Amino acid sequence: MERKHGFSTRAIHGARTPPVEQETPSVPIYQTATFRFETSQDFAETIGFRRPGFTYTRGYGNPTLQAFESLMAGLEGTESAFSFASGMAAIHTVLTTTAAAGDRVVASNELYGGTYSLFTKVLPRYGIEVSFVSPHDPDAVAEALPGAKLFYVETIANPNVTVADLEALGALCRAAGVPAAVDNTFASPYLCDPARFGFDYVIHSATKYIGGHSDLIGGVVSGSEERVAELRSTVIETGGTMAPLEAWLSMRGLATLSLRMDRHSANARRLAEFLDGHSKVEQVHYPGLPSHPQHDVAKRELRGFGGMLAFDVAGGVDAGSRTCDSLKLAWVGGSLGGTLTLVAHAASTTHRQMDPEARRAAGIGDGLIRLSVGLEDPEDLIEDFAQALEKA
Ligand SMILES: Cc1ncc(COP(=O)(O)O)c(C=O)c1O
Repeated sequence: MERKHGFSTRAIHGARTPPVEQETPSVPIYQTATFRFETSQDFAETIGFRRPGFTYTRGYGNPTLQAFESLMAGLEGTESAFSFASGMAAIHTVLTTTAAAGDRVVASNELYGGTYSLFTKVLPRYGIEVSFVSPHDPDAVAEALPGAKLFYVETIANPNVTVADLEALGALCRAAGVPAAVDNTFASPYLCDPARFGFDYVIHSATKYIGGHSDLIGGVVSGSEERVAELRSTVIETGGTMAPLEAWLSMRGLATLSLRMDRHSANARRLAEFLDGHSKVEQVHYPGLPSHPQHDVAKRELRGFGGMLAFDVAGGVDAGSRTCDSLKLAWVGGSLGGTLTLVAHAASTTHRQMDPEARRAAGIGDGLIRLSVGLEDPEDLIEDFAQALEKA
């Protein structure tokens, strides 16, 4: 009789995935780093991408990550997608895959503070130069593009919610033969699908609207099979892969993205209209307001105007801080795209990395308050901002 394995061996080797015939509404979480092969040759062929299969979750792939990636590619209208540990890991990988020492990249001067910091502090250490242009000045963009390895822009810019004319910018990049990358985080895949304007890399911080509940950190890039394969090769060596649970949470988030974005947009519009008429508010920045400088671009390009807005309180930084600190329902805090309303004073928090001159060039006033409008009842939000502005 064969000797029975000991307790430890049985505990380690005894678990088996049962065969599942039926479909389930959510994809299983393959919480695993590695996968078994029948033979070393199978392993060698799979890790060399000469046959399909999974070898190692860091970069080589994982069934749960692959499910999220193919869902994203389908929603973005691209051939493929690749998931990352964070939005910044995604952006870093796109930049370091397309550019190397001695190369130059052209970027919008209206960017999330973390991206600006990556471009001005980290990439120069690799010998990659970034030149900044206004995405709203097509002549300046056309002049800067020749010889660049990449053009980089945000669909709706963080924090002052200007809207880039992606159709025009995509055409300029194609004419110059420069690959184009767009951070589509503020719009989400539901409001905008930039691949149709010829953008080669569509980037999201999945932490925001894709996840939608402020409970995960993740990133994703959609593009052609060839470009995604290049990103994968970088990540296999650098790490920065999404974790399976995060991919599962992201898929759960995507299932309700359209409903959430419609409600975020409706709430933001109500709040923008309220703030716009308020005596203590100098300016409201919201693509849905006819006064917004790119309102027409937004109408053409976006399926809705989104949940992000910004406003300047009369009285500058101090009045802005008093307003934030007096809010009872909305939270003062970082991140965006979740169910609850969050406010941030841009100059001292999300965009602290930019020097005052760069902030001014990007149109970020010293008192600008960025608002991620959540899914609460709009009357409650308006009441909260009304009482806070009284103390401004
Ligand atoms: C527009 C935008 N892109 C990228 C990021 C970075 O994403 P993550 O925090 O997931 O690294 C952020 C984060 O706030 C963002 O607002």
